[in-house]
Amino acid sequence: MSSVVIVGAQWGDEGKGKIVDIYTEFAEMVVRYAGGPNAGHTLVIGDEKIIVRLLPSGILRENTRCVLGQGMVVDVDVLLGEIDELERRGHRGVADRLLLSDRAHLIMPYHIVVDTLRESTAAEGKAIGTTKKGIGPAYEDKVKRLGVHAGMLKDTERLEAKVKMALDGWRATIESLGGEVPSLADVMAPLLAARERIVSMLGNASVAVDEAIKNKTRVLFEGAQGTLLDVDHGTYPFVTSSNPVSGGAAIGSGIGPNRINTVIGITKAYATRVGAGPFPTELDDADGKHLREVGAEFGSVTGRPRRTGWLDVPALRYAARVNGVDGWALTKLDVLTGLPRIRVCVAYDTPDGRTEDFPIDMLDEPGRVTPVYEELEGWTEDLTGAQVLSDLPAAARAYVRFMEERAGVPLYLVSVGPRRRETIVLHNPFFGRADAP
Ligand code: IMP
Repeated sequence: MSSVVIVGAQWGDEGKGKIVDIYTEFAEMVVRYAGGPNAGHTLVIGDEKIIVRLLPSGILRENTRCVLGQGMVVDVDVLLGEIDELERRGHRGVADRLLLSDRAHLIMPYHIVVDTLRESTAAEGKAIGTTKKGIGPAYEDKVKRLGVHAGMLKDTERLEAKVKMALDGWRATIESLGGEVPSLADVMAPLLAARERIVSMLGNASVAVDEAIKNKTRVLFEGAQGTLLDVDHGTYPFVTSSNPVSGGAAIGSGIGPNRINTVIGITKAYATRVGAGPFPTELDDADGKHLREVGAEFGSVTGRPRRTGWLDVPALRYAARVNGVDGWALTKLDVLTGLPRIRVCVAYDTPDGRTEDFPIDMLDEPGRVTPVYEELEGWTEDLTGAQVLSDLPAAARAYVRFMEERAGVPLYLVSVGPRRRETIVLHNPFFGRADAP
């Protein structure tokens, strides 16, 4: 098996950074295919904690080639800032290991202005709760055919003409929202300053990834955000503006879908969401507080407290279907330690009767559907030393097996703490062995 997609099965923040980092040990190439600096992947290496927003999580491994695919939107300041920060911390050759698709779109200052203004002026209940990183407006420009490719940095005259056209396109919107339209010179200056460094990283990502797969290189596609934030498959309109689902890996990196061998779905042992939108199993009580505090559930990009709730099995089954999940990576099981009883949503009561499907089209209207829960016993023992499933206390084992059975896909991995070693690996998709790593 040479190509594996890792995708968030919930609303993002499932702990992808750690899991991608573990599997990256076996990958020679790591590819991000959608989204931009709205993601925040936390890597914990020894006592060092690093949050990367644009760079693939594999970037710290010196023998791994990292690719930012054409499905992404890239803010050049953020990208160069991350590279500089890693190099300052002693990680060498970061830029040399990175290939930026010349067809990835650039996030411009006017995108950030529009994103921020829209959020701050939205009517009650209408704000999406975006990360204000300019993601939505950058994808809007791409679809409007006014976007600026990273490759355009090679030709400054053409670049300036494109930027002018796009900026003119946003002028009326920015003014109507009471904002100040950035000048062309202000937009161009940082681009020109970054130009040389960015151009040296540009390349044809589609060719690079396709060739890697043909050469049997082990390739990992690193999803950002999550299935329920997907613009086509998420809880629309409270979604991001790209396709984080596994199909997005083919489109966003420029390979055929038949080049992907395995899809791993990542889910926390409970659920969280940042930003607005439906969250049927949300908790507003002591259990929710436990999950937020013990799980340190605060946004890694925005610092916002995350909304917390019980695990939603119908949502996992939905994610399994739209992504073609082959196996689950279950994260943050240790956060449940200390809860006397744990609830899991197993079905929904809807106006059409009880269903085990995720009623995504009925979530808009509050109260239209009601989660149906089963209750499982909690545990108090520390899980972080567990290396195999049989090291877990019986109640934790029962919880994990319950989730696996109800969500209908086998478990590949269980994470019991933030560190690399605090992980139970049951199946490695690159090798299929139960004993690695
Ligand atoms: P945007 O992607 O900044 O436009 O935000 C749209 C929605 O997606 C908001 O609810 C954000 O909170 C959410 N979102 C975007 N990126 C992430 C992420 O990496 N993790 C969790 N939520 C995210």
